[in-house]
Amino acid sequence: MDQYCVMGNPVEHSKSPWIHARFAALTGEPVAYGKRLIPLDGFAASVHAFIREGGRGCNITVPFKFQAAALVSRRSARAALADACNTLIFEGETIVGDNTDGIGLVADLQRNTCVELGRRDVLLLGAGGAAAGVLGPLIEAAPRRIVIANRTVAKAAALVARHATLAAANEVELRALPLAEVAGSFDVVLNATATSLAGAGVPVPGSVLKPGALACDLMYGPAAAPFLQWARDHGATGRDGLGMLVEQAAEAFLLWRGVRPPSAQVLGEMRAELAA
Ligand code: ATR
Repeated sequence: MDQYCVMGNPVEHSKSPWIHARFAALTGEPVAYGKRLIPLDGFAASVHAFIREGGRGCNITVPFKFQAAALVSRRSARAALADACNTLIFEGETIVGDNTDGIGLVADLQRNTCVELGRRDVLLLGAGGAAAGVLGPLIEAAPRRIVIANRTVAKAAALVARHATLAAANEVELRALPLAEVAGSFDVVLNATATSLAGAGVPVPGSVLKPGALACDLMYGPAAAPFLQWARDHGATGRDGLGMLVEQAAEAFLLWRGVRPPSAQVLGEMRAELAA
C-alpha cells in the first residue's frame, strides 16, 4: 500500500481518512491514508520523517498550510497565489506543494450544484487564509465580478493586489470593500469568515442575496449552521462546505494517483453517514 496522511493540530476530527478510504475502495488504488497530530513546533521535521518512512504525499490542515507553502521545493501557481498548501506530493526528496481548496470549491459549485459562475456576481466574505485559498480558482471560473468584503479592509485589498493580474487575464472585476460598504446584490455569496465560530451574526444584510442566490459557507456542521439559517431566512439556497471538502480531497487524490475518484458518490455517502 502507498502511504498518505493528513497532518494538522488538531486533527482528531478530520474526515479526510474516511474520504480517502472510500476513494481507494472505489478506484481500487492501493492507498493507505492516516492522520497525524503534529506538534505546533514540529511541522517540517514531521514532513521529513514521513518521507523517510516512505510516505508518498500528504494533506495539510490547520494551522500548517502557510508553513507548508514555505517548506516546499516547488509549488503550483495556485499554491503560490494562495501562499498556502493543502496538498504535498513527494517526488524522492523533492516536496511539491499544491492547493486544491479553490478548485474543490469551484468543482462543488459547478458539478454538484450546477451553479454557473461564468459572468455572475460573487461576494466573498472574509480575507483570511480560507478566502486566500479559494480566490485564484474562483477568478479562473470567470465570474463578472468578485467583491471581497472584510472587517479589516487592508487584508481584502492585499488579496486584490496579489490577484490583479489573474483577474485582468480572466476579465474579472475584482475589488475590496469594508463589510459596511457592501451594496447591491449577488448571485453567489461565499462565507469565508470565522464569524460563526466567533458567535457573531452574518456581517452583511440579506439584501446582498439576489432572488434564488446560492449562499455557501466554506465550513460545515455546526460552524456553518448560522450562515445557512441566514440564507434560508432570506430566500437563498444554502450550501455547506462538505462538498468542497470532498472535492478538494478528490483533486488531491487525482494529483497523487492520476485517477479521478467518484466524488459525488462519496459526498452522498458522507451526508448519509452524518445524518444517520
Ligand atoms: P481562516 O484561515 O479560517 O480564514 P483567519 O485567517 O483567521 O482564518 O480569517 C478569519 C476571517 O474571519 C477574517 O476575514 C476575519 O476578519 P479580519 O481579517 O478582519 O480579522 C473574519 N472574522 C473573524 N471574526 C469576525 C467577526 N466577528 N466579524 C467579521 N469578520 C470576522
